[in-house]
Amino acid sequence: MPVTALVSAKSSGVTTSALALALASGRPTTLAECDPSGGTIRSGFLQNEVSAGFGLYHLAKAERVGPDALANAFASHLWPLDDAGHRQLLPGLTDPAQAAALSRTWPSLAHIMRVLATQASQDVFIDAGRLALDAGRLHPTLTPAPLLHQADLVLLVVRGTDQSLTLARHLLKPLTAELSEHGSGSDALGLLLIESGPYRAHQVAESLKLPVMAALPFDPESATYLTQGGPQPRGYKRSQLLRHARTATQQLEAVAARRQVQRQYAPEPASTQLAGVLERLNHKRKGVPHG
Ligand SMILES: Nc1ncnc2c1ncn2[C@@H]1O[C@H](COP(=O)(O)OP(=O)(O)OP(=O)(O)O)[C@@H](O)[C@H]1O
Ligand SMILES: [Mg+2]
Repeated sequence: MPVTALVSAKSSGVTTSALALALASGRPTTLAECDPSGGTIRSGFLQNEVSAGFGLYHLAKAERVGPDALANAFASHLWPLDDAGHRQLLPGLTDPAQAAALSRTWPSLAHIMRVLATQASQDVFIDAGRLALDAGRLHPTLTPAPLLHQADLVLLVVRGTDQSLTLARHLLKPLTAELSEHGSGSDALGLLLIESGPYRAHQVAESLKLPVMAALPFDPESATYLTQGGPQPRGYKRSQLLRHARTATQQLEAVAARRQVQRQYAPEPASTQLAGVLERLNHKRKGVPHG
């Protein structure tokens, strides 16, 4: 199953969408709240039922002990999101100042998430928060870049409004560069459209020159419940948001599977081809007498 990371330029609905996708998925699911500016699910949807002694921050210490300690800590810091325990949450940071401690933990966490997806066949969703830039690149400590590198899909969450598209546009170049240079390729990048505002999916795709890999309806009642918690609205389980989120998980799986097949049959990356050509040229040159 895919590892899908969700990011935004600014408060577009990353956390709500990640939660909706995790709750709607028909498969065992892990949602990791890795927004360096702090998590909101603990105090929102979970109504502070999880203490600060639990969650992402505590994995940094375990990582320093070693991979086994990290894997154990990861498993013991997951919080069930449903009674059966099929959907689990790694609660996020309680203080943005904790983010610096995580910077060397991200690569190992990315590895664990890949293992969950490939060996435990879980749907893995990562709330990677708003992306901070530094000199045109992803910020090394304020962005969990290694999680994006290792994700099968990176969804830039946008709304169909001028404001949202204008801000998102600034992230396209840095994200594309990051995923081509350090990730599995720039085609991992796509859009998750929250259907609010005047622009439809094809216009948003055309405007940002990226495919809309999934769309979620504007559904304030269900979204508010996922954001703030409290009493469950009537008909929530059959709500527009959850029904579309379920379809979205299936679409994302299909996109990720297609990518994987394409990558299996893809020509070797340019740098490898170039290295091969250079090797052959050098070899020939050795055989050709000078002068
Ligand atoms: N599909 C939706 N329909 C209606 N409202 C939504 C939807 N998704 C999110 N919202 C609302 O938009 C606001 C921002 O959502 P959310 O907190 O998920 O965004 P975010 O991108 O995680 O923001 P931040 O960057 O601040 O963490 C919330 O009030 C939420 O209820
Ligand atoms: Mg958020």
